[in-house]
Amino acid sequence: MKSLTSTICTVLLIVFTSPGFAGPQQDAVVNYYKELAKREFSASRGEAFFRAKQTGGKPATPSCTTCHTSSPMNTGKTRVNKPIAPMALSKTPDRFSDLKKVEKWFGRNCRSVLGRECTALEKGDFLTFMISQ
Ligand code: HEC
Repeated sequence: MKSLTSTICTVLLIVFTSPGFAGPQQDAVVNYYKELAKREFSASRGEAFFRAKQTGGKPATPSCTTCHTSSPMNTGKTRVNKPIAPMALSKTPDRFSDLKKVEKWFGRNCRSVLGRECTALEKGDFLTFMISQ
């Protein structure tokens, strides 16, 4: 019994400390967008979207990297220099766990960077990339 318990503990430890481990809450958020997009998501498309320089939004915020920095591992900063916890799930494990919060910030940030809503595909690709980081 003792060895079974320690095996289970070891497995849980590995699972919960692995980089980019998405729990059921992140899965639910991604699945919400998958229903809408009706496409498979791609982490590499998500990374390209994250890094892209856009022209449709506010000149002060041409890219997601303007605030979130060029690395998902880094602490970002707002336009008034308030810190933003890293986007990478391995760095900030409660990221993307609350659909209301995710939708609120996609709404704000997509409008300021692109001047429009992000599509479900763009959102799903972005989340898939950040969850893998
Ligand atoms: C003007 C600065 C700024 C820009 C530009 C920006 N963000 Fe953000 N973003 C924030 C802030 C501030 C938060 C909320 C603080 C937090 O979650 O730590 C946030 C949070 C988010 C969240 C919610 C994360 C969660 O934990 O649920 C998502 C998703 C997101 N941003 C996506 C994007 C995408 C996609 C882009 C580019 C299209 C972008 N952001 C550009 C400032 C920015």
